[in-house]
Amino acid sequence: MKMTKVPYKINLSEEEIPKYYYNLRADMIEKPEPLLNPATREEMTKSELEKVFCSELVDQELDNSNKFIPIPEEIRELYKIYRPSPMIRAYNLEKKLETPAKIYYKFEGNNTSGSHKLNSAIAQIYYAKKQGLKKVTTETGAGQWGTALAIACSLFDMELEVFMVKSSYEQKPFRKNIMKVFGGNVTPSPSDTTKVGREILKINPNTSGSLGCAISEAVEVASMDPNSRYVLGSVLNQVVLHQSIIGLESKIALEKYGEYPDIVIGCAGGGSNLGGLMAPFVGENIKGGRSSRIIAVEPSSCPSLTRGKYIYDYCDTGKITPLAKMYTLGSGFIPAANHSGGLRYHGMSPIISKLYHDGYMEAKSYTQSSVFEAAILFAKSETILPAPESAHAIKAAIDEALKCKESKEEKTILFGLTGTGYFDMLAYESYLEGTMIDHVPTDEELNLANLSEI
Ligand SMILES: Cc1ncc(COP(=O)(O)O)c(C=O)c1O
Repeated sequence: MKMTKVPYKINLSEEEIPKYYYNLRADMIEKPEPLLNPATREEMTKSELEKVFCSELVDQELDNSNKFIPIPEEIRELYKIYRPSPMIRAYNLEKKLETPAKIYYKFEGNNTSGSHKLNSAIAQIYYAKKQGLKKVTTETGAGQWGTALAIACSLFDMELEVFMVKSSYEQKPFRKNIMKVFGGNVTPSPSDTTKVGREILKINPNTSGSLGCAISEAVEVASMDPNSRYVLGSVLNQVVLHQSIIGLESKIALEKYGEYPDIVIGCAGGGSNLGGLMAPFVGENIKGGRSSRIIAVEPSSCPSLTRGKYIYDYCDTGKITPLAKMYTLGSGFIPAANHSGGLRYHGMSPIISKLYHDGYMEAKSYTQSSVFEAAILFAKSETILPAPESAHAIKAAIDEALKCKESKEEKTILFGLTGTGYFDMLAYESYLEGTMIDHVPTDEELNLANLSEI
C-alpha cells in the first residue's frame, strides 16, 4: 500500500469539531479526590459550590461518571471562529535536530487571545449567561486567561472583573490593554479593593502577587453579589473537561494518517491544557488499548509536581476557597518574581495530581533559560514565536527527539503548543541580552518540611 506523506498541517473541517467533551474521570479506575469544605472537611456539596460557580459548571465539576458531555451548538458555533486548531508536523525542527522521531504539535495559539484558554472561556461564559448572571470575576497571571475571558465576555455581553497578578500587570501592559479593549476591568493584585487583598498587603506590602492572591480577591468580589460568579481558567475538573477538545481533535487528526503518539507532552501550570491534550490518550492507556508515555513539564522555579506534596491544600493564598487534594508547594508559596510567564501556580489539577500519584504519567522541570533556548530553536525552525509556557513542552519534546537520535528510534512525539509569545518580548529580550536569572528554590525556601495537610 502506498503511504500518503503526512502534510505540514493536518486541518480538520468545521464539521469535525467534536460534539462532546470527553470526561476522563469516567474512565479513571480511582477517581480524583473531591473538593472539601475547609470548615467541616466534608465533601463540598452542589449547593455550596453553586454560591461560587454557575450551576451547570458545578454539575460538570462533580461529574465522575458521564463519559461524554454534549457541547452545546452555540459553543460549537463560536469554536468555529478559530477551531479546529491545526495539527502541525514539525518537519523543519526534525531536520534541524537530525532526529528519526516524528514530531507533531497541536497549535492552540491561533486566535486573538493567543492561547488555548479561549476553549474554556467560551464554555464558562455560555453557561453563566444561560443562568442569567450579569458579571463574572477572575484572576489572571500572565494575562492569557484574562484576555480569553474578556473576548468570551464581549461575545456574550457579560461584565468582567479581572484581578491580574501585580508583577504581570507591571511587566505586560499590552495584555492589560487587550482585556480593556474587549471591555474587561483590570485591577493589579493584591489590591486594596478587597478585604483579603488588604490583609495580604498588610503582611507583605511589597509582594509581587501570585495567582493564589488574585484568586482570593476574585472569589471575594463574586461572593458579594448574587448576580456574579467566579470563573477559573485552570486546575478545576470542568476546565480540564473543556480542554479535552484539544486531545479529541488531535486524535482524529493523527488517525487520518495512521499515526498514534508514543509520547504526549504538555506544559503544566494548573494542568488544563495537558489534561485536555492527554485525556483521550490516557483513556486508551487505562483501558489497555494503545499506550503512550505522558509527560508534564513545569518550571524549576515553581515545581509543584516534581517537588511538591500530594495533600489537601487551599487553592488560594487568602484561604477562602475549598480544599483540593493536589500536588502543592503550599498556598502561601510565591514564585520568584523574575520567573516570566505563567506556570506560576502553587498547586495542580486534582485529575493530573491523581494520575501522577498513581503512576500514569511522568513529570519533569526545566530552568527558564533552557526553556528559552528551546523556544528560539523552535521559532527559527517552525516560524512561530512560542509562549514561554508552551516552550516548556517544546524543550521536553526536543530532549525526547534527541534521545531518539541516540537510540535511532522513530518514535511519534506529540506536544501541545498552547500559545504564542508576542506579549512576552521583555522575557525574550532578557534571555537574548543574557540577563535572565534562573531561580531554583532551595529546600529551605520551599519549606516543604513544614507543609502539612490542612
Ligand atoms: C500559553 C499558556 N500555556 C499554558 C499555560 C498553563 O496553564 P494550564 O496548565 O492550565 O494549561 C498558560 C497559563 O497561563 C498559558 O498562558
